[in-house]
Amino acid sequence: MANAPQHEEKRHSGKTIIVTGGSNGIGQAFVHRLAEEGAHILICDVADASESVALAAGAQGTVEWLRCNLTDSRSIADFASDIATRGIEVDAIVHAAGIYPMKPVDEIDFGEWRRVFAVNIDSLYFLVRAFLPGMRSRGWGRIVAITSNTFQLGVANLTHYVASKGAVIGFVRSLSREVGDWGITVNGVAPSITRTKTVENEPQRRELLEPLAKLQCIKRVAVPDDYAGTVSFLLSDDASFITGQNIVVDGGWTHS
Ligand SMILES: NC(=O)c1ccc[n+]([C@@H]2O[C@H](COP(=O)([O-])OP(=O)(O)OC[C@H]3O[C@@H](n4cnc5c(N)ncnc54)[C@H](O)[C@@H]3O)[C@@H](O)[C@H]2O)c1
Repeated sequence: MANAPQHEEKRHSGKTIIVTGGSNGIGQAFVHRLAEEGAHILICDVADASESVALAAGAQGTVEWLRCNLTDSRSIADFASDIATRGIEVDAIVHAAGIYPMKPVDEIDFGEWRRVFAVNIDSLYFLVRAFLPGMRSRGWGRIVAITSNTFQLGVANLTHYVASKGAVIGFVRSLSREVGDWGITVNGVAPSITRTKTVENEPQRRELLEPLAKLQCIKRVAVPDDYAGTVSFLLSDDASFITGQNIVVDGGWTHS
C-alpha cells in the first residue's frame, strides 16, 4: 500500500496565528508566508479575504477569514468568542491592520482621530485581553505589532497616525515586561513606506514612493514581502529571547 504523502515539518506547523489586516497589503504577505510555513491562519479583517485565502492555496497551512470590524469592540468580542466556541487555541497575534489618512492636524475631527486610534492601537488592547490568558496557560505566545518608521521620523499631516504607532510601541515595550515569565514575547516591526494597493491608490502617497526610497540605504521601494521574514522569525522559537523590541525594517532609512 502506498504511503500517504508526508509533509516535512515546517517552522509554524501546529500553530494558530491571528493576522489582523490579512486581507490586503502587508498583512496579506504575512498570511501567505505563514501559511507556507505550516500555520493555521485566522484573518481578522473587515474586508473580504478571498484573495489572501486563494494565495495560500496549496500551502501546508490553512487560512480562514473571520470578518471583524476593529473599530467596534463588540465585533472584536464576537470574533474572540467565535474562536473560543470552536475550541481553537490561539498561539500568536500579528497585528497588521492599520489606517493612515493624511490630514493637517487642524482638519482632523475627533471622530477621525478616534478611528485611527481604534484600528491601530485600541484593537490590539482588545485582542490581547481576549487571547493572552490562553497563551499564558499554555506557557507560550507571540505578539507582533506592525508599527512604522514614521515614529522615528515624525511626519507632517500624520499626527494621529504617528501618535497611534507611538502608542503601539509603548504598549509593546510595557506588555513585554508583564508577560516575559510566561513564555510570551511581544515585539514591533516598523516598516518604511511600502508599495501596497492602498498607497498606490492615493496619488499624494504614490508620488512619494520613489523619492522617499532614495533616503534609504537600500534605494528601492519596499514591498510587503520585505517584512514577512522578520515577522516569521519573531513568531518562531529562534526568537524566544527577543522581546520588547521595535525592529525597524526600513532599508536603513532611520538607522542613524
Ligand atoms: N504601506 C505603508 O507604506 C506602511 C508603512 C509603514 C507601516 N505600515 C503599516 O503596515 C500595516 C499595513 O499597511 P498596508 O499598507 O498593508 O495597509 P492596507 O490598507 O493594504 O491593509 C490594511 C488592512 O487592514 C484592514 N482594516 C482597516 N481597517 C479595519 C477595521 N476597522 N477592521 C478590520 N480590518 C481593518 C483593511 O481592510 C486592510 O485589509 C498598517 O499597520 C500600517 O500602518 C504601512
